[in-house]
Amino acid sequence: MSEIELSSAPAQLPHIRVAVLGTGKMGGILLQAFLKQNLFAPEQIHATVAHEERATALSSQWGVEVTTDNVAAARNADLILLGVKPFQVPELMAQIRPVLNAKKTIVSFAASVKTSQIEEAAGMELAVIRAMPNTPSALGAGAAGLCRGRFVSEEKMDLAQRIFATVGRTVIVDEKHMDAVTGLSASGPAFIYIILEALAEAGVKVGLPRDTATLLAAQTTFGAARMVLDTGYHPALLKDAVTTPAGCTIDGILELEDGGLRVTLIKAVMRATQRAKELAAG
Ligand SMILES: NC(=O)c1ccc[n+]([C@@H]2O[C@H](COP(=O)([O-])OP(=O)(O)OC[C@H]3O[C@@H](n4cnc5c(N)ncnc54)[C@H](OP(=O)(O)O)[C@@H]3O)[C@@H](O)[C@H]2O)c1
Repeated sequence: MSEIELSSAPAQLPHIRVAVLGTGKMGGILLQAFLKQNLFAPEQIHATVAHEERATALSSQWGVEVTTDNVAAARNADLILLGVKPFQVPELMAQIRPVLNAKKTIVSFAASVKTSQIEEAAGMELAVIRAMPNTPSALGAGAAGLCRGRFVSEEKMDLAQRIFATVGRTVIVDEKHMDAVTGLSASGPAFIYIILEALAEAGVKVGLPRDTATLLAAQTTFGAARMVLDTGYHPALLKDAVTTPAGCTIDGILELEDGGLRVTLIKAVMRATQRAKELAAG
């Protein structure tokens, strides 16, 4: 039986058959969001993984067809999502190439694999969209960057945006910025968890029980992010509103600056972006 609560209403996109090739952590998050949000009905989806036993388990968990047969999934699909590891994309493309045609759309969320590489591997004028989502997509709080290949119509780009809108906010960027999106928002949740954990640890240091400190740290991170998103104000302006002259916050800020938090975060995103450029090579 499916563990996902399904709506009885008709699917929002009932005429599109979808293949998710490589349904691991990220593919699973997307697939479950499609079902929860009723974007596609279970019978419109064919997902694949590498291991038979995982295919069987996921199929009964999600109530969708999950196999290890990429070719069958791609043959029947209008929309093909690529969710394998970057270094596995060339082999997967070689496998499905015989069943591709120009009516199909490929959306790849493999880090660092260029749309031109996928177009070349397809060997035809095929719509290829690259996306870079992140794990908070599991709660509908994701951030995804999207960019288009050479043969993508407005309609197909809208479809890709709609798909990623089911799991959070989307931005469309030039492909040259996709590694930066990877370094900032795809790796970013890990950076924020470390900041959050450190804030909670700080709460413990100043005497709060751990659960209370973690809750306060997480809600504060969430609240600050919402202030930026909902007001549209520059973060510096919002920071100034918390910082009373000769108050406590400015003393804390001095310590942050002294410890180099800003520069450290900038360097972390730069390093992650650099690494994203290298990933497709294995
Ligand atoms: N995790 C993130 O935060 C994140 C964010 C943005 C983008 N991405 C991108 O998403 C992709 C997947 O990452 P992930 O974290 O989801 O990794 P993952 O959990 O390891 O998922 C990879 C999946 O691919 C399957 N697979 C491997 N070889 C296959 C093949 N030949 N045919 C069909 N399926 C195959 C694996 O099957 P088994 O389960 O049977 O081994 C697994 O389910 C990567 O390209 C990554 O760059 C990840």
